[in-house]
Amino acid sequence: MTTTTVTTTVPTAARVVDAVKVYGTGDTSVRALDGVSVDFPVGRFTAIMGPSGSGKSTLMHCAAGLDTLTSGTAHIGDTELSSLDDRRLTLLRRDRVGFVFQAFNLVPTLTVAENITLPLDLAGGKGDREWIDALIDVVGLRDRLHHRPGELSGGQQQRVAVARAFAGQPDVVFADEPTGNLDSRSGEEVLGLLGRTVRQTSRTVVMVTHDPVAAAHADEVVFLADGRLVDRMAAPTADKVLDRMKAFEVPS
Ligand SMILES: Nc1ncnc2c1ncn2[C@@H]1O[C@H](COP(=O)(O)OP(=O)(O)OP(=O)(O)O)[C@@H](O)[C@H]1O
Ligand SMILES: [Mg+2]
Repeated sequence: MTTTTVTTTVPTAARVVDAVKVYGTGDTSVRALDGVSVDFPVGRFTAIMGPSGSGKSTLMHCAAGLDTLTSGTAHIGDTELSSLDDRRLTLLRRDRVGFVFQAFNLVPTLTVAENITLPLDLAGGKGDREWIDALIDVVGLRDRLHHRPGELSGGQQQRVAVARAFAGQPDVVFADEPTGNLDSRSGEEVLGLLGRTVRQTSRTVVMVTHDPVAAAHADEVVFLADGRLVDRMAAPTADKVLDRMKAFEVPS
């Protein structure tokens, strides 16, 4: 007779285990992450929320391999990031991770089309033309391809940044407050785009937001406070998220 142990694991696109990040040393040191373990399952749209200074951006940067942990581990798929040398880490970031920065980081002298394919051009590759073509329609920028960022609205610029993050067909896209500077209509466009990309292409998105309405687009919300994971909420609605956030508010 044989005994079979079946272990079912949901594949994770990214995760951190016992993540600690300390900035600085001595009296002025800041413990931005204080033992966070969290996983971001494949094909899931996760929102990260929490008060200012709670460690959201730090968590995203460390999970994406843009910064290193003081202790604990960060993984993209099955790869533990600290096991990689600089060259391999650069390749992994290029091939498997996309990042949408809050400030767009578009290059003003390049057109929309050039900005979208910039990471691929830097890598010396052409990328998948069909995918990039489809992305341009998904973000609704076909009639703006030869404009420069200065000729676009804030929402259009943010959509370029989102398209750029997805251009190399990464497994996981991290977006740090991608709707922070947008009016509600442009914000809805960007959120719709993130949600559709997750659902239609089984990609994984991790998004920081302060906005309960934005968080409600996600499949799950992860709450941070003081560098710790304090709660997770599946199937969020704006009202449920707002109620949870009230618990963080410090009476003034
Ligand atoms: N480079 C750095 N050097 C020193 N301290 C830092 C650095 N980056 C962040 N911190 C500190 O780490 C803590 C967490 O910062 P982080 O940027 O992760 O917060 P956040 O949750 O993203 O906040 P916000 O909502 O304001 O963007 C804060 O106390 C911050 O001051
Ligand atoms: Mg931040």
